[in-house]
Amino acid sequence: MMYALQLNEFGLPSNLKYVEVKAPQITSPYQVIVKVIAAGVNPIEWKIRRGNVSLVNFLLKFPAILGNDFSGIIYDKGDKVTEFDIGDEVFGKTQNPFSGLGTYAQYTLVNTKNDGIIKKPSSITHQEAAGFGIAGLTAWTGLVSIGDLKVDEEAKDIQQKVLVIGASGGVGTYAVQIAKHVNNAHVTAICSGENAELVKKLGADRVIDYTQQDFGEVLKKEKESFDLVLDCIGGDTYYSKSIPILKLKGNFVTAVGPDAYGENIRIVDIMKIGMITLGRKVFGVRNYKVIVGLTWRDLPKIVTYLDKRKIVTVIGHEFDLKDGVKAHELSESHRVVGKIILNCPN
Ligand SMILES: NC(=O)c1ccc[n+]([C@@H]2O[C@H](COP(=O)([O-])OP(=O)(O)OC[C@H]3O[C@@H](n4cnc5c(N)ncnc54)[C@H](OP(=O)(O)O)[C@@H]3O)[C@@H](O)[C@H]2O)c1
Repeated sequence: MMYALQLNEFGLPSNLKYVEVKAPQITSPYQVIVKVIAAGVNPIEWKIRRGNVSLVNFLLKFPAILGNDFSGIIYDKGDKVTEFDIGDEVFGKTQNPFSGLGTYAQYTLVNTKNDGIIKKPSSITHQEAAGFGIAGLTAWTGLVSIGDLKVDEEAKDIQQKVLVIGASGGVGTYAVQIAKHVNNAHVTAICSGENAELVKKLGADRVIDYTQQDFGEVLKKEKESFDLVLDCIGGDTYYSKSIPILKLKGNFVTAVGPDAYGENIRIVDIMKIGMITLGRKVFGVRNYKVIVGLTWRDLPKIVTYLDKRKIVTVIGHEFDLKDGVKAHELSESHRVVGKIILNCPN
């Protein structure tokens, strides 16, 4: 048996119930069971909890355990798992957010072939490792995999110019650090004034407080000079303000899309968003890219940055697993700083 946060129906955060349930068992030779020490919380999980992702709501079978990001210890493994041993410290992100067998639990099932799992360097804590998953990979995907920014040696002699919108959140805090320390970019960050110091410490060269200033106005003189805008908030306003400052071949990469905060993912919204996205891709005057899939191909390389602490997890908020309701309330308030971590009982 194990403790987990279980969801029995779509709805409010209070629908997450801390209960004792049967622990998962190995059902395929490539699976491992991870004893979860810490789990990361991401906005996709409250969007699913609310039942907002209506096109695919049917995929979630109740009772369900949500959660994708984990860090912990291998507790059991299938016969064909050769890369990991029982007792190894590992972290990563599961592939399917609708599996119902998520990481908000003391034990979780990870498929070593399909899910992202890698050994955790001893230089980082389980909480830091648990934060990386979705948010870190989204930042990496947006900047490097589809954003086309140069990395390390290749970036040494050029200074790419990057704007990160929503720089103080989960994705944004990783993005500022990757852009600065891996892409060697000049980083302009958009966040509220109260998070400006944090974002500067992470590597931003300049911070614009969106509650006080219109960044479109502030950056007007830097017309067509940015290589990339990474948008972690979504909506039309930020898109419209970004286009004039992007180079002709620059990329506008969004983690969210034309609907601010991406809260509405009903079928009708998806159709509208699809039309706008297509319009911007075909008729837009700059490259428009939406992050739709995350790959862990680069995870071994990323781990070296985490190990050297070139990229660190900003743990803004920690809760015990039993207080997952509070974690979801905070996440859907849009006021998260860095990452929310759930600590599992021993
Ligand atoms: N496409 C994908 O595969 C993918 C993957 C991951 C995430 N996402 C989506 O990307 C979004 C960001 O994820 P996240 O984990 O970074 O979320 P998060 O941690 O909840 O973001 C919170 C941050 O948003 C900032 N914020 C709120 N309103 C803002 C505004 N109007 N302008 C600028 N900043 C604002 C807040 O900063 P201040 O308090 O400083 O204002 C806060 O630091 C979510 O909608 C998520 O679902 C998509």
